[in-house]
Amino acid sequence: MKRILVTGGAGYIGSHTLVELAEAGYDFVVVDNLCNSNKESLHRVAKIIGREVPFFKVDIRDKDGLSKVLDEYSCDACIHFAGLKAVGESVAKPYEYYENNIGGTLVLIDVLKQHNCKNIIFSSSATVYGNPAVIPITEECPKGKCTNPYGQTKSMLEEIFMDIQKADPQWNIVLLRYFNPIGAHKSGTIGENPNGIPNNLMPYITQVAVGKRKELGVFGNDYDTPDGTGVRDYIHVVDLAKGHVCALHVLQNGCGLSIYNLGTGRGYSVLDVINAFVKVNGVDVPYSIKPRREGDIATCYSDPTKAERELGWKAQFGIEDMCRDAWLFQKNNPEGY
Ligand code: NAD
Ligand code: WQD
Repeated sequence: MKRILVTGGAGYIGSHTLVELAEAGYDFVVVDNLCNSNKESLHRVAKIIGREVPFFKVDIRDKDGLSKVLDEYSCDACIHFAGLKAVGESVAKPYEYYENNIGGTLVLIDVLKQHNCKNIIFSSSATVYGNPAVIPITEECPKGKCTNPYGQTKSMLEEIFMDIQKADPQWNIVLLRYFNPIGAHKSGTIGENPNGIPNNLMPYITQVAVGKRKELGVFGNDYDTPDGTGVRDYIHVVDLAKGHVCALHVLQNGCGLSIYNLGTGRGYSVLDVINAFVKVNGVDVPYSIKPRREGDIATCYSDPTKAERELGWKAQFGIEDMCRDAWLFQKNNPEGY
């Protein structure tokens, strides 16, 4: 396998994955409509890897546009990051989420098939487990009820991919269920760059630390967890990116349909993350306890042993690395890209 089509490659996880793909000797071509990203991320990637990033501003719902890219750049596999991902926004705009995430993926699958590229890695999410039946969560844990349209798109797309692979076993499909990616490349030049008020914990913390926001709201301290705040499996985005390179190896070997959790297997509470961030970076993060956020669960962390066994992949970075690298990016880029 030589060249990879990377959809959504200008985004947070996509940009970090490009670096790891280059490191592992892959070529790639990026398509992104830049609805939640900035071309600057690709210039920064180019600096890190020492060569230009082939990029097309194409929407994955644009069949002709996608086809042209694949006519020009024949690809052996696709890593499919493109999608809308804000949980709250998806509740307000369900149509846009179904149309973009599901509609876009259907167009992508069609165009890949026409170009005889039947290898794809899909960005799924731990959100498909809903309120998990068992902790730590293995891939056998039944999928749960998603409380928002964003989660539904991931869950439904997983089903669609399963049906497609069943009907045509030439497809090799890896569904990667990410836990909570945070952190940034060690150079501090690429990182998470949310538009507007961050929805997620780490970008909110870094924006408070850099003085852009007054204080962090901790959403509930009465959960059934050791300190009462929500527990999650935070994973360094560079570890996550490396997981995609490992998944390409199993795709290449003809894996059929495979599902892997990408997490560390460790849970940290909101207060654990704040304390680690303050300790490793020596900056203040004022916070106050707020009511629970609707749709949140108490605890969610992975059992990542299947990925270790079958992909030979294991997260290397710890919570302090994640906090240090997230801060370095925010400090170097107080206004983002
Ligand atoms: P991101 O928003 O930074 O990246 C997604 C990219 O897709 C953006 O650059 C956006 O411009 C692009 N995009 C969206 N719709 C498009 C379309 N129709 N055509 C072309 N490009 C389009 O998000 P991310 O955090 O890098 O997430 C990447 C993928 O991983 C997403 O599918 C997301 O749902 C999934 N995921 C993310 C997390 C997380 O916490 N960040 C967790 C689990 C799964
Ligand atoms: C983590 C913890 C919050 C913000 C979401 C999506 C999930 C996946 C990853 C894409 C929780 C608490 C947060 C804040 C807080 N994305 N928190 N104050 O909710 O685990 O997962 O992102 O697939 O689908 O739902 O991540 O970072 O939003 O929250 O106290 O300002 O931090 O309550 O306990 P979450 P998160």
